[in-house]
Amino acid sequence: MSYSHATQADSLHRIIDYHVRTKHHFNRYARSLGYLDWANQPDPFRRFEGTQLVSLPLLSPDEEPLSPAYQAIFEQETVHCQPVTVRSLSRFFEFALALSAWKKAGESEWALRSNPSSGNLHPTEGYVVLPQIDGLELDPGLYHYAPKEHGLERRTEFPAERVAQLLVAFPSHAFLFGLTSVHWREAWKYGERAFRYCNHDVGHAIGAARIAAATLGWNMTLLDGVAQNTVAMLLGTDRKQDFGEAESEHSDCLAVVWPTKAVRGQRLGVKDDRKEIPLALDSAIVKELAGGAWYGKGNRLSDEHGVHWDIIDEAAEASWKKQTDQLMIRFPRQSFPSPDTRHASRTTSDFGPSAGHIIRQRRSAVAFDGKTSLSATTFFHMMRRVMPSAERPQLERPMPWDVWPYDPTIHLLIFVHRVVGLTPGLYVLMRDRRRVSFIQQTMNPELSWTIAPDCPDGLPLYWLLEGDAKKLAAQVSCHQDIAGDSAFSFGMLAEFEGTLRKRGAWWYPRMFWEAGLLGQILYLEAEAAGVRATGIGCFFDDPVHEIVGIQSLAVQSLYHFTIGGPVEDRRLQTLPPYGHVKRIS
Ligand SMILES: Cc1cc2nc3c(=O)[nH]c(=O)nc-3n(C[C@H](O)[C@H](O)[C@H](O)COP(=O)(O)O)c2cc1C
Repeated sequence: MSYSHATQADSLHRIIDYHVRTKHHFNRYARSLGYLDWANQPDPFRRFEGTQLVSLPLLSPDEEPLSPAYQAIFEQETVHCQPVTVRSLSRFFEFALALSAWKKAGESEWALRSNPSSGNLHPTEGYVVLPQIDGLELDPGLYHYAPKEHGLERRTEFPAERVAQLLVAFPSHAFLFGLTSVHWREAWKYGERAFRYCNHDVGHAIGAARIAAATLGWNMTLLDGVAQNTVAMLLGTDRKQDFGEAESEHSDCLAVVWPTKAVRGQRLGVKDDRKEIPLALDSAIVKELAGGAWYGKGNRLSDEHGVHWDIIDEAAEASWKKQTDQLMIRFPRQSFPSPDTRHASRTTSDFGPSAGHIIRQRRSAVAFDGKTSLSATTFFHMMRRVMPSAERPQLERPMPWDVWPYDPTIHLLIFVHRVVGLTPGLYVLMRDRRRVSFIQQTMNPELSWTIAPDCPDGLPLYWLLEGDAKKLAAQVSCHQDIAGDSAFSFGMLAEFEGTLRKRGAWWYPRMFWEAGLLGQILYLEAEAAGVRATGIGCFFDDPVHEIVGIQSLAVQSLYHFTIGGPVEDRRLQTLPPYGHVKRIS
């Protein structure tokens, strides 16, 4: 075995070991402190002290750029494409990572955001790499997004020509969006299992950003060919000198975002006649860009760390993506017509609530009423939204799946409780129908596997077992009633071991990203259907598998989710997201 094979095998072994070790069992939870060390609760807001903060305008919903109807964002050709300006970037961040409200109970106040997070701990930090763009009054450089201030902190500036060269293969006015995680924020509460939760949150943030881009008529794809060292270099997370005693950030991913059509005042150049775009960056240019002057030092988030969870560093190291993959994706042949006013009415209420309205109102339900049913039509519609149409080229897949440069590895094991016209029981949604026999073989051979009655054509939803699964769903979800009192809940079953063996340990986080992305779209779909969702990171791993007889690591449930009629917690007061910031847009 060559050295690199040996290290790959070792990484694989270590990441699988991490997964197995961080399972919750009926008689034993994954290791954590077991109590909350309130004195050292991490600050949810990273700031870089000693750098310039550029405030983004705080825009009210009726200010430009206006948000299109929520339904319209799934038909990108109908969305008015916005130029990249400080105002549109403000909307992008508002819908992706900004505060959406403050909650108040007695003396305590805490912020909620457009993106959800396990335990509301928000380990995910956002960045943008901006080139010189006409009409965008920001210098080329790397900026960190500060959600509490809704501003961009300049970390470094880039020479305009060099950053233009870095982005030369992308459509005009493209910029990069990056995500990092402060693992400590989740580990503080959840201990060893926290690496999983951080990656769920990355997936949610990818989804939130893709959807934010869609409201502006922008496209986005993960640049997953890039080696993680290059991501770290570009986002400055490898600069130990800027973190010192402060908690480090783990670089997760980069994405490229671009306006899909020519926009008034921002002429597209000849290079937009492209056929393909790469999913990697030139690491030599990144190295050169990272060699300039940097500004700011990361703030310390907790005074002390009672316990350091080494296993999280080990999992992060084992799943570090070492290689650059020179992947190219086909650019859609049919480019959309220039902005027109034909569909301006799509922003009106004729097409239902605006995307911004749905995004702002998204919340996790803390309890469900145990009564509300969904119609089969609504349920099937939600199932359709998570189908990635994997047979199509990436950029021709339905939003938000066009952000994801891979075939799906996740299928849903659904506990149907209250869907009118569907017999309560267990169902499977196969997100890639080519994998039916594989998944079937991992489960108990006595399961029915018949197409669900009245299921719309082309939706691979299979009925497995009839029965009342409310108690069971709650029991395996760490005894949380939210999994049984809803209309339906589900586990996200990943094709686990085979994917890791085929692609490498670096794929472990990506399965959680895929799960988070799927969760993000369903959070919004639930709001649009007048109900509410909640992500469930706490579940008993193997007891879930035993329900359908899964006995090996071939398939593993990575994330649970529940949707139904919410019960409001009336003791909580809701305050506006930016009441603490005084500024004129
Ligand atoms: C990955 C993930 C796991 C979660 N797990 C649970 C859970 O097990 N139980 C629960 O009640 N809420 C869970 N939540 C919901 C969070 O507590 C919620 O997102 C957070 O408090 C922020 O509130 P918001 O979603 O209303 O913005 C989870 C959310 C995420 C993103």
